[in-house]
Amino acid sequence: MVLQSLLFFHLKYMCFYYIMPFGEKMNKIKLSMPSLKDARMRKNKNVPIIRYQLDSKYQTIGKDKTYYIFTYGCQGNEADSEVMAGILEQVGYTKSNDPMNSDVVILNTCAIRENAEQRIWGVLGQLKGRKRENPDMLIGIAGCMPQEEKTTNRILESYDFIDLVIGTHNKNHLPKLLYEAYMTKAKVVEVISSEGEILEDAPKVREFHHKAWVNIMYGCDEFCTYCIVPYTRGRERSRAKEDIINEVKELVAEGYSEITLLGQNVNAYGKDLGLDYTFGNLLYDLDKTGIKRIRYTTSHPRDLDELTMQAMHDCKSVMPHLHLPVQSGDDEILKKMNRKYTYDEYMSKINRLRELVPDLALTTDIIVGFPNETEEQFENTLKLVQNANFEGAYTFIYSKREGTPAASMVDLVSEEEKHKRLNRLNEYVNAGYLKGHERFLNQVVEVLVDGHSKNGEGMMCGYTPHLKLTHFKADDNSLVGKIVKVRITEAKTWFMIGELCE
Ligand code: SAH
Ligand code: SF4
Ligand code: F3S
Repeated sequence: MVLQSLLFFHLKYMCFYYIMPFGEKMNKIKLSMPSLKDARMRKNKNVPIIRYQLDSKYQTIGKDKTYYIFTYGCQGNEADSEVMAGILEQVGYTKSNDPMNSDVVILNTCAIRENAEQRIWGVLGQLKGRKRENPDMLIGIAGCMPQEEKTTNRILESYDFIDLVIGTHNKNHLPKLLYEAYMTKAKVVEVISSEGEILEDAPKVREFHHKAWVNIMYGCDEFCTYCIVPYTRGRERSRAKEDIINEVKELVAEGYSEITLLGQNVNAYGKDLGLDYTFGNLLYDLDKTGIKRIRYTTSHPRDLDELTMQAMHDCKSVMPHLHLPVQSGDDEILKKMNRKYTYDEYMSKINRLRELVPDLALTTDIIVGFPNETEEQFENTLKLVQNANFEGAYTFIYSKREGTPAASMVDLVSEEEKHKRLNRLNEYVNAGYLKGHERFLNQVVEVLVDGHSKNGEGMMCGYTPHLKLTHFKADDNSLVGKIVKVRITEAKTWFMIGELCE
């Protein structure tokens, strides 16, 4: 079986393997190019699980070399960067703190909005200058941007100094691709748009030693009309529950206190496996592992079910915070977005959850200026924000993503109007943040300590069960990773301040 799939892999990619003729500025090895057509497909076939194994041929390619990874975008990308770092360190690279003086620099990119992409092109511009001074530096671009046909074509046409282009589905090929780039001195491109596999047993260098990302599923089948993710991440595919539970047990054994379960729509966990085991079941099972804190992101309101809500009530380790993106408060816009719920359905879900978890902290995502959003439709969003009692929200101006259905919708709302709406919305949202902090004034909360605060000498910080950032006076490294008791003395919009209890 393993042999068969290896053979299949080779045949598949050999067909695409060719070196561009001489005369071009730089040789290009296109192992595989992204295809929007392939990215749209969702076949009903089993998803292969790839158990990571390093080919001994690549064991020392990073000896005496350093690496640096820039990470943009969502937590899924942060988790992917931890895997890439693990793979790089396994083949001998050491982590550097200085991108401009590293042997390998990888940008793990995000394509969610135009401004996210602009930032990344800007960083690439800076690296270009550095590469001129140090031609041996190897620059790679990974993540969601190369999954877009237009981006990879642009890189091939105008970004000669990028040596490696790799997508979201083939981190496990990193040693092979680096080897190829070193040996050939060509630009190596491998971006796979087919539906994806599940990678298990890959090494990871986790950013923290007390809190960890745990992917429970990959991809997204929701196809919200504005969103690029279903095309850059492939179909929804869940990890086997045994693999997830074992990973969490290992984290507990290593002393981790908190996990955040990751997926674009965690509430759809298990549906693709066809088993009678859903996200709620997984929460109950993970609660038994002994991990102190469980968080999860992101939830889709339509799929948030009663069992999950019951688990939030029953399981001590599941934290009383929920991030439940609503996107809009207007039924017509929600329909155009393909969100598959209404204002009333959203409100009844959160009201039900608040019956079970009365002190819940609820946060959300909102898009303003979806194509042709009227003033009245926008006001429905404001109304929802007032009624839902959000204690935080990521708010965005709609950004057109090529290849998505919304990209071809007529949009006559001016950019200026969209900015005004965003500002009006943020006034309500910010008031919600403050209110969410004020409710803890004079209370003692438990803070999982992350480290020293950036905004104050002699201050440390961490998060409470409700995911409230809390600063407190202390200067003691031994507190990092511990859960301490803090009495809240001040509530600000973006954080709380408190005093460590003896
Ligand atoms: N899977 C998650 C989040 C995905 S992306 C979910 O469904 O909630 C994070 C957020 O980016 C989304 O919730 C949405 O608010 C925003 N977003 C996605 N595409 C966007 C676009 N084209 N323009 C503006 N915001 C967008
Ligand atoms: Fe994008 Fe919608 Fe999937 Fe979230 S659920 S990743 S917004 S398509
Ligand atoms: Fe961005 Fe890709 Fe995540 S587009 S938000 S990095 S899934």
